[in-house]
Amino acid sequence: QPARAVDLVEEESGAPGEEQRRWEEARLGAASLKFGARDAASQEPKYQLVLEEEETIEFVRASQLQGDEEPSGPPPPTQAQQKESIQAVRRSLPVFPFREELLAAIANHQVLIIEGETGSGKTTQIPQYLFEEGYTRKGMKIACTQPRRVAAMSVAARVAREMGVKLGNEVGYSIRFEDCTSERTVLRYMTDGMLLREFLSEPDLASYSVVMVDEAHERTLHTDILFGLIKDVARFRPELKVLVASATLDTARFSTFFDDAPVFRIPGRRFPVDIFYTKAPEADYLEACVVSVLQIHVTQPPGDILVFLTGQEEIEAACEMLQDRCRRLGSKIRELLVLPIYANLPSDIQARIFQPTPPGARKVVVATNIAETSLTIEGIIYVLDPGFCKQKSYNPRTGMESLTVTPCSKASANQRAGRAGRVAAGKCFRLYTAWAYQHELEETTVPEIQRTSLGNVVLLLKSLGIHDLMHFDFLDPPPYETLLLALEQLYALGALNHLGELTTSGRKMAELPVDPMLSKMILASEKYSCSEEILTVAAMLSVNNSIFYRPKDKVVHADNARVNFFLPGGDHLVLLNVYTQWAESGYSSQWCYENFVQFRSMRRARDVREQLEGLLERVEVGLSSCQGDYIRAITAGYFYHTARLTRSGYRTVKQQQTVFIHPNSSLFDEQPRWLLYHELVLTTKEFMRQVLEIESSWLLEVAPHYYKAKELEDPHSKKMPKKIGKTREELG
Ligand code: CDP
Ligand code: MG
Repeated sequence: QPARAVDLVEEESGAPGEEQRRWEEARLGAASLKFGARDAASQEPKYQLVLEEEETIEFVRASQLQGDEEPSGPPPPTQAQQKESIQAVRRSLPVFPFREELLAAIANHQVLIIEGETGSGKTTQIPQYLFEEGYTRKGMKIACTQPRRVAAMSVAARVAREMGVKLGNEVGYSIRFEDCTSERTVLRYMTDGMLLREFLSEPDLASYSVVMVDEAHERTLHTDILFGLIKDVARFRPELKVLVASATLDTARFSTFFDDAPVFRIPGRRFPVDIFYTKAPEADYLEACVVSVLQIHVTQPPGDILVFLTGQEEIEAACEMLQDRCRRLGSKIRELLVLPIYANLPSDIQARIFQPTPPGARKVVVATNIAETSLTIEGIIYVLDPGFCKQKSYNPRTGMESLTVTPCSKASANQRAGRAGRVAAGKCFRLYTAWAYQHELEETTVPEIQRTSLGNVVLLLKSLGIHDLMHFDFLDPPPYETLLLALEQLYALGALNHLGELTTSGRKMAELPVDPMLSKMILASEKYSCSEEILTVAAMLSVNNSIFYRPKDKVVHADNARVNFFLPGGDHLVLLNVYTQWAESGYSSQWCYENFVQFRSMRRARDVREQLEGLLERVEVGLSSCQGDYIRAITAGYFYHTARLTRSGYRTVKQQQTVFIHPNSSLFDEQPRWLLYHELVLTTKEFMRQVLEIESSWLLEVAPHYYKAKELEDPHSKKMPKKIGKTREELG
């Protein structure tokens, strides 16, 4: 494919200015370096970067502006010096001058809202201040919640280093399926979901002296539920301190919610950020990203680049493309370090994004939304924002949840741009038009509670003894229909009785840290005597579609390897097959390598499996292997997610929505009449991911209260002649 370059035009005059000239020179230079080569026919650039303001931009080096000394090369710092420099960094953070004032405010108020620019030190410093102040005396703990696993892990690691302790000792983190804490842990960074689960074992959070709900502006479902629960606990535990920390957004609302709690503002440092837009919409933002990164690299003064993409697949693709092009350019360009960051990335690789860029090189961090506010990477001067994020949406009418790549909100776009101005004046390149920014982006992101299914949370609240969900203290209430549907689903799954009370089975389901359908499947494995297989399926489903590895240069081999795992019946069986073979190989990484399977994902699946296995006893499921029918156990959990083949393709059984089998599925060419799916993903179409062939009669068997025989009649089926169908209808 012909590589192309990005043009830069000053909006008002259209005349080439200094910036334009530099850019064009670079393009020519780049062209001779082969990546910008364009034939005469495609001379017309597909899109242009347009300068928002007319002035020429002057770049100032971070070190010049801050007056800090760049950490210079050898000799390597001694341990004492390292400690000293860590302390110096701590003292340089914007929150530091407010340490005493902040501690006084916390002492004087039970609930405090803390507002501060991203990177000001809220997450890493405030819990340490509280620790130093003695809030963890007598074995009391401090919890600090993060919406994202990666953030919880990396922040805990950072704080442990700052305190000079081993991660997991005094400072630890706890995320689903991974607990890196011990008896000694007093500073606990945890996902908001984990603190929510803490309520199950300790409804008054008695072992905590401080709860800091961090990244509150993210408004994740779990954070929103925590607000209601913590507000309640705070009423009868006057000694509990509650901190709500947020980027500079929405803090007035938090204050109002917490009975007008005071807001403590940490003034941030921020340097100006110049915004650039494209002149015309860009069709392929991934390709545009890669081109723009290289262009920035070749034309712009030193400073690292941060790119916002929507998920792992995209990030890996972009990184691969970038590395590929850099390799081809070789020594003709300066070194470009390409570093991905997303939720499932192992922590050793994550840590690399925080290492300082070697002199002469440039770093490009390709990140999900996580880098918007949860993580601060030093040295970012350029932000590249395609303007998208992956968002869950939920249709309470149909009960369909989908994950969609959607335009981000203005608030999000502004946060992203702000990341360029932390250490010096920066630039933000938006891969969309100024018009689109003005007219197409929503002001703010809708809180998750209003666009997700609530089965999980309702089950949790019910197990905490909260029955009247309609009157729960929500910051923003979920849609009434969504709540109702969650109750209905839980009833169908047997977790609630007809009065909406938790059943024994519901109590067990709440014990398992997975979605209700998955936990139902695990419980059902007892009846079908196949818990070993079901645990594996559950664990593999939990590692999120990242099982197979497909390197660009070995696509054919990789696809063959994948197809070799296919078994008739469907994707759940394929997952089980992969895991079983891997286990037989002695959990070998070599085996993974040879079969194009991601070792990391498998290792994670193994962890998840072990944890779930450890919980089986508590939910009274015995270990057994394949005495029964595990496909039926899966159906017992997923009878909600079913589709049938009609003349016009697949339709969901209950709602009659048009859906498609994902092209990666082993059943893509099989087209069975009845199937269940694990999840729906909306990309170009509504795709069902991880599908399994079933028989419609099983649905009646596992969910007689949910399905009526009539809905499951199959007009095309040979087994059910039309005549009988008609007769029945006449009778009915
Ligand atoms: O929470 P807030 O955004 O206010 O700031 P923070 O996360 O506490 O970050 C304070 C400083 O710690 C920043 O300068 C980060 O670059 C640094 N940090 C780090 O070096 N490594 C991490 N894993 C997290 C933070
Ligand atoms: Mg933070």
